[in-house]
Amino acid sequence: MSNVLVVGGAGYIGSHACLALREAGHEVVVYDNLSTGHREAVLGGVLVDGDVRDVEKLKEALRNYRVAVVMHFAALISVADSVSNPIAYYEANVEGTLSLLSAMVDVGVEVMVFSSTAAVYGKPDYSPMCEDHPTRPLNAYGESKLAIERAFPHYERAYGLKISKLRYFNASGADSKGRLGEVHDPETHLIPRAFNAVLGGAPLEIFGEEYSTPDGTCLRDFVHVTDLADAHVRVLRHLQDGGESGVYNVGTGSAYSVREVIQMVERVTGQRVPTISSPRRIGDPSSLLAASDRIQNELGWMPIHSDLQEIVESAWRWHQTGWHGSATGDAG
Ligand SMILES: NC(=O)c1ccc[n+]([C@@H]2O[C@H](COP(=O)([O-])OP(=O)(O)OC[C@H]3O[C@@H](n4cnc5c(N)ncnc54)[C@H](O)[C@@H]3O)[C@@H](O)[C@H]2O)c1
Repeated sequence: MSNVLVVGGAGYIGSHACLALREAGHEVVVYDNLSTGHREAVLGGVLVDGDVRDVEKLKEALRNYRVAVVMHFAALISVADSVSNPIAYYEANVEGTLSLLSAMVDVGVEVMVFSSTAAVYGKPDYSPMCEDHPTRPLNAYGESKLAIERAFPHYERAYGLKISKLRYFNASGADSKGRLGEVHDPETHLIPRAFNAVLGGAPLEIFGEEYSTPDGTCLRDFVHVTDLADAHVRVLRHLQDGGESGVYNVGTGSAYSVREVIQMVERVTGQRVPTISSPRRIGDPSSLLAASDRIQNELGWMPIHSDLQEIVESAWRWHQTGWHGSATGDAG
């Protein structure tokens, strides 16, 4: 078992990955500047409070904790924000990852698992999309992730690194034991925003209701955060067993519309979700659906918790009882 530096491990997906890594027997050290993450999400173990652009601090952490593997979740993640503030996105996501790579090369840490995104694909030519689908991001967030994906093969060849990339679709849900869940501020994701609306916050905005989909709202592929965490453990095992690095979609291949998600939230909470109609957002494709055959066939991964009802139920439990309290503020 290995010492794993989880960069961004105080955030939503990184913190769930820490749980899964510990359960698989790894030692976890979280490295995070807590800009969008939470100290309370670091459940035991070490938290190094540092910025991913701080090469010296990263090198110190890699050396001090005898790190063998890096999992890199730290990023700015809002598509809309990236359109108005691309500097911040390139600095955090591209410059940040280059700093981390420099630190790894200097210290001699050779394995990384990287959080990428379906946003690298842009508008689908076909659906579901496999990993070979053309990559044409529609915003600075997707571009920043693709730019760094493109740098990886050069680092792998020149410095003997192994870097696997996981392109997540819509991360959702919460730990089944209620230890962790999603806490973003402002919240931009559909399910927690629907809960906020139920709890008296701003009505849920539906961006576009005239798409060419069965009910007119966008279709998305929701994958449970616990299934995502499991994907990381499997990728790590594969690399440590001598497997090749790769790029993997992580989604379910099933699409739910925004309306269907709202209906599920209403069923689970027993309350109506107040909604308002808003114009389409620029660059929002009508449908985003993953073909995840590669990770299923090569690594035996299956989305076993990603049924929509389980996603919404786990997220609702967390929303009511988690350490963040019930968030009722207005959501982006
Ligand atoms: N949430 C999703 O649906 C989704 C979908 C696709 C890809 N992703 C990717 O997954 C990763 C994690 O997303 P998340 O939803 O957990 O986000 P999050 O905001 O909850 O977590 C990101 C973490 O990184 C930390 N961080 C940010 N900038 C940093 C910096 N400069 N130095 C050190 N730490 C920094 C934050 O404090 C936070 O703890 C991101 O790379 C994101 O692009 C997320």
